[in-house]
Amino acid sequence: MTTAAAPTSLRPLTREQIEKRLKQCPRLPSLGSINTALRELLHADQGYTSQVAEVIRRDPSLTARLLRLVNSAYYGLSSPVNSIEEAVFYLGVRRIRQLVMVTPIIEDFQRLAGKASFSWREFWQHCIGTAILTREVISTLRAPIDEVDYVAGLVHDVGKIAMASACPEHFELIHHRAEGASTTLIEREREILGLDHCEVGAMYLRSHNLPDALVDVALYHHAPQRAAHHAQLVAAVQIADLMMRHAGIGHSGNGERVNATDWLQATAWDILFPAGSESAETEKTLARATLKRSLERLPTILEGLV
Ligand SMILES: [Fe+2]
Ligand SMILES: [Fe+2]
Repeated sequence: MTTAAAPTSLRPLTREQIEKRLKQCPRLPSLGSINTALRELLHADQGYTSQVAEVIRRDPSLTARLLRLVNSAYYGLSSPVNSIEEAVFYLGVRRIRQLVMVTPIIEDFQRLAGKASFSWREFWQHCIGTAILTREVISTLRAPIDEVDYVAGLVHDVGKIAMASACPEHFELIHHRAEGASTTLIEREREILGLDHCEVGAMYLRSHNLPDALVDVALYHHAPQRAAHHAQLVAAVQIADLMMRHAGIGHSGNGERVNATDWLQATAWDILFPAGSESAETEKTLARATLKRSLERLPTILEGLV
């Protein structure tokens, strides 16, 4: 008995073959948008912040997105907000600024979308939600690090986008087999393609000379204990990713069930709040409570964004 054009005949690729495909794939964006966003987030001065409304007004699609966000149910306003000044008033400059900075990244990635069998809209929700929550996790620390965290959360799963563009048949098969599979997504990626999305993402970011912190997040976000550098950032992204998957907001393409205990007891917590100090347990408990509240507010925020 023969099956016509069985997709299972697809062979895994070597690391070199995948690297070559990533370099030659014309559909993959240059990621210049990430560098620009990082530069602007890190070096934006007060002058810029006060001009934020002016910057947004110049971009009609961003204006529309922001107004939709502010008018979403979450804010429960009796009359709709029609101006950017009002939006800044309700959302706060920080959230507006983050949104302004990362919109080009999302738009860069959205150009790759179009595969009917994968829900990209839900995937963007997963990425943006993870970005927002990564920032929230970092904010619970005593000495929060800079705003690279937001971009790191946004691009943590970039390997899936790169894989879908450079190796579409493998990507299709990996996600086609997802239903009822007894293996994890990472196991299927390794078996079918030869590398998982963490490795592919790190390879892609590295080839575009993006900062090591982003490369480490892509590489270790499912195993933060393996990160020799930027461990706090990697740990924060792991927690944010697990929270998003537990809440079932958006979809990362990873259908494995994530229980509340998975994010509440993740190994990442020991990296963020190392045992030993007397206050570590108390701080951890407070952080978890804060994050639970953030998670409750998130769905409506995202609804307006993507
Ligand atoms: Fe992932
Ligand atoms: Fe993820």
